[in-house]
Amino acid sequence: MKERSGPTIVIFGASGDLARRKLVPALWHLAGRAALPPGLRVIGTGRTGFVDQAYQEHIRDAVRATVAGVDPDALDAFSRAFSFVSIPEGGSFAGLKAALTADGGCGDCIFYLAVPPALYAGIAAGLAETGMMDERDGYRRLIVEKPFGYDLESARALQDALLGCCREDQIYRIDHYLGKETVQNILAFRFSNAIFESVWNRNYIDWVEITAAEELGVGKRGGYYDTAGALRDMVQNHMMQLLALVAMEPPVNFNPESLRNETQKVFQSLRPFEHSDLVDPLPSSEEARGPGRPACIRARYTGYTAESGIAPDSMTETFVAARIFIDNWRWGGVPFIVRTGKKLPVRVTEIVVHFKKTPHILFRNAGTPRVSNSLIIRIQPDEGLLLTLGLKSPGGGFDLRQVPLHFHYRELEGVPLSEAYERLILDCINGDPSLFIRGDAVLACWRFVQPVLEAWRAHAAPLAEYAQGSWGPELADLLLPPGERWREPCRILSEDGVCHL
Ligand code: BG6
Repeated sequence: MKERSGPTIVIFGASGDLARRKLVPALWHLAGRAALPPGLRVIGTGRTGFVDQAYQEHIRDAVRATVAGVDPDALDAFSRAFSFVSIPEGGSFAGLKAALTADGGCGDCIFYLAVPPALYAGIAAGLAETGMMDERDGYRRLIVEKPFGYDLESARALQDALLGCCREDQIYRIDHYLGKETVQNILAFRFSNAIFESVWNRNYIDWVEITAAEELGVGKRGGYYDTAGALRDMVQNHMMQLLALVAMEPPVNFNPESLRNETQKVFQSLRPFEHSDLVDPLPSSEEARGPGRPACIRARYTGYTAESGIAPDSMTETFVAARIFIDNWRWGGVPFIVRTGKKLPVRVTEIVVHFKKTPHILFRNAGTPRVSNSLIIRIQPDEGLLLTLGLKSPGGGFDLRQVPLHFHYRELEGVPLSEAYERLILDCINGDPSLFIRGDAVLACWRFVQPVLEAWRAHAAPLAEYAQGSWGPELADLLLPPGERWREPCRILSEDGVCHL
């Protein structure tokens, strides 16, 4: 058998949007940094009848469309690593196997399923039946993208189907938020700075606010989105991961399983939504609402049903806000209030840790409002950190004001933030699953949102409306602790409070 050094990446759905917009550019950037193993080859598969040359041209187009100033010779060399194998609908994987074994054994192989989730189980079965998941002459890994299922039951079925074809440690489930530098930095920030650990708990933290706001609407993805909605699309996965990284205990070491065990413990500690919290999520009286009760509300932007691909009688939400509690010693009683929505004023993802106010107001006589510290972990854009401090304004008296201390990633010269997919593809090649979602975590997150899905499916909860370009429905304000307001973040982290969107 001829020795081959590099692994083979087989992309199912090779001419699709994900491959074109994310995977090919990620591979290009990795190749440019000489980060890929030598001899790596990529086989695209799909129903399209590409010959290799046409596929290579498709690859060059994909790179040129997303990267400026590409060197044509480097691009030619890059595209020569790509070839194409057609798999006719319902056809066998024999052609793929023949291509993989053309120069000996398969060697190390990654199967990237960049296809609609309904096809995952069938492809995995086809790979297993033809022996392509056997690890006799190299590793075999399967990359799948969210959504992993549609609800708890379908997620379980998918999990069972995949585990019927390979082992759990061969499955790499992507949540692209974990590939973001700033999301990984939550770990570095928390576990390499001792000063924050002592205050990172219910004794010092009042509440935590997590926002993932998008300016765009559903665009051309109406067909998919209308069957998903914000809860499935963003909360069950991305928001849950952010919450877990903020709330997790320090892992015993930095092994993938230690890390993933800790995030899983957070998911296991989530206080379940009670049906009564959901059917009438926010009864008007404060007492009935109860500060310790979780609740989840939904809304959609005005004009949603007029968008292409959306059913006229759709009840799909484009905005979700939820009050979540983590029932453990560190977080008992601290609300984690999350919101996500489309057609909001600006694209911003951030975590705001609101610390408790001082127990005694020393400066009350100076007419100063009571200030509190907050730490903003900005995931995107203007990636960075901002800590607010109450300080004295210059001049007579003791007039206090909130002053920001901020750090921006862009100030780390010469270190561009790499795209999430670059990190994740490389980690899969290197066999590091730390930033991939384990099967039990997927199920735990579905288990958590399942009561909400059921209440909404039964039309038991209202679907509010909000104006495009607003911060969502007023109803969401009722989730906040008394006297608190949602932050209205600005694109520029340090323009906080004087935001010129
Ligand atoms: C995807 C969702 O997972 O994440 C999209 O399907 C959403 O609807 C996107 O727009 C947001 O990702 P990012 O990286 O732009 O915050």
